[in-house]
Amino acid sequence: MKTRKVGIIGLGHVGAHVAYSLAVQGIADELVLVDSNEKKVESECQDLRDSVAYLPHRVTVNIGTYEDLGDCDVIVNSIGKIEILRANQDRTDEMKFTVPAVNSYVGRVKASGFDGVVVNITNPCDVVTQQLAKGLGLPRGRVFGTGTGLDTSRLLSALARQTGIDHKSITAYMLGEHGNQQFAAWSNVSFRGKSLEEWAKTDERFRFDRDALQKESIRGGWVTFSGKYCTEYGIATTAARMVSIVLHDEKQIMPASAELCGEYGEKDVFVGVPCVIGKNGVEEVVELSLNEREKEELKKSCDVIRGNIKMVEEKK
Ligand code: LAC
Repeated sequence: MKTRKVGIIGLGHVGAHVAYSLAVQGIADELVLVDSNEKKVESECQDLRDSVAYLPHRVTVNIGTYEDLGDCDVIVNSIGKIEILRANQDRTDEMKFTVPAVNSYVGRVKASGFDGVVVNITNPCDVVTQQLAKGLGLPRGRVFGTGTGLDTSRLLSALARQTGIDHKSITAYMLGEHGNQQFAAWSNVSFRGKSLEEWAKTDERFRFDRDALQKESIRGGWVTFSGKYCTEYGIATTAARMVSIVLHDEKQIMPASAELCGEYGEKDVFVGVPCVIGKNGVEEVVELSLNEREKEELKKSCDVIRGNIKMVEEKK
């Protein structure tokens, strides 16, 4: 029987929490941990192994090299240098470290014969996802980013607190860049089929300051960061959810950083949009009908991301 094997590149705060989320939820049967910091990866491997005896699911954990990732079903990339964010709290700042880091190993993963799906966390997420997709040369959709999947979870939390409706009964999306250009697509928010507009007609819980709630969601990552100089649970759960959707071929619709090839009138860019995700990664980009403001916001996001990608290409 095929075991579900997941590789994790980068065992910092985020990668370690992804590994633990995959283990504790029984999503992976085997974890391969890859990190150049031998002491750190050894410590995370030991700690994860120490948890297995009392986990509901059996999982084997090993340390590996990029060459060991060839037969993984999914690779999660979380290589990074989170301390860079302390200066300006702008995910783009990490680019100077993360893009060269990813480009330094992508050839080794490609040479390993890896033919699965990559879930990228590393920031700036949309740019690094594009770099990984380009470097690996896998079929479209096989490389996507957590990006607005995480931003949307923050929006859902804020909406759940505001309205009293449970997260899982709310359809809402943060779209665009996984960064300061992200935006809430209010015209597409509904509560199990009843739109926000409809609810707002009769119930004041739904007549809230949308700009304030959007700001609160975007600020969420920085509230977490300012207390412990990283984020862990939200991002790890988002990534673990995406890995599970791929491994179980769930065909779930989830916001993610995906390549646009004409959808929303955009192409040659990875940006946060709703996607049908399954065993082949992003299998379809879902085109929502957006109002004029939202179309503008999405275009702004794409332009910022393209600008960052241009900077990367010029530095090569
Ligand atoms: C965050 C990081 C993962 O938003 O970008 O928590």
